[in-house]
Amino acid sequence: MTTVHVLNGPNLNLLGRREPAVYGRHTLADVEQRCRTVGAELGLEVDFRQSNHEGELVTWLQECGAAVAAGRSVGAVLNAGAYTHTSLALRDAVAGAEVPMVEVHLTNVHAREEVRHHSFLSPVARGVIVGLGVPGYELAIRALAGLAAEAGA
Ligand code: DQA
Repeated sequence: MTTVHVLNGPNLNLLGRREPAVYGRHTLADVEQRCRTVGAELGLEVDFRQSNHEGELVTWLQECGAAVAAGRSVGAVLNAGAYTHTSLALRDAVAGAEVPMVEVHLTNVHAREEVRHHSFLSPVARGVIVGLGVPGYELAIRALAGLAAEAGA
C-alpha cells in the first residue's frame, strides 16, 4: 500500500494544551485521526510522526525521499513548527532527498510575528497551506495524492 508521510516538528506534541488561544483545543492525536480518515478514503497508509529534534526530522525526510523514489510514498506533509523559520538543514533534506512536500501550518504565520513570515521550506515545497487549522493537513494529503496520480498518469 502506498504511504503518505505526515511529519510534525517541535512542540506540536503539546497541541491542545499549548497556547490554546493561538492553536485551539485539538490535540495531535486529533490531527492524526483526521489524517488517517482521509488516508483510508484515498487508499493511502498514513505514516504519522512527531519529533522535537531537527536531525530526526532530517532523517525522516531522507527516508521519505527513498520511499518516494521506490514508488512507496506520495511524499510528505510537513509542519516543521519553529524549525520552518530557522532550519536550512530541513530545506536541504527536502531538496536533497527530492521529497514532494506540502508545508502546513495550523496558524496563519503571515498574520503573526514577523519572525514567522520567513520560511526556509516554502521555496522547496510543492505547495503551502497556512491558517486553516487541522483541515489543512487533510487538504495537503489530498494535494499529494492528486500530484502523485498526475505524475503517474
Ligand atoms: C506552526 C507555526 C510556527 O510558527 C510555530 O513555531 C509552530 C506551529 C503552525 O502550525 O502554525 O510551532 O507551524
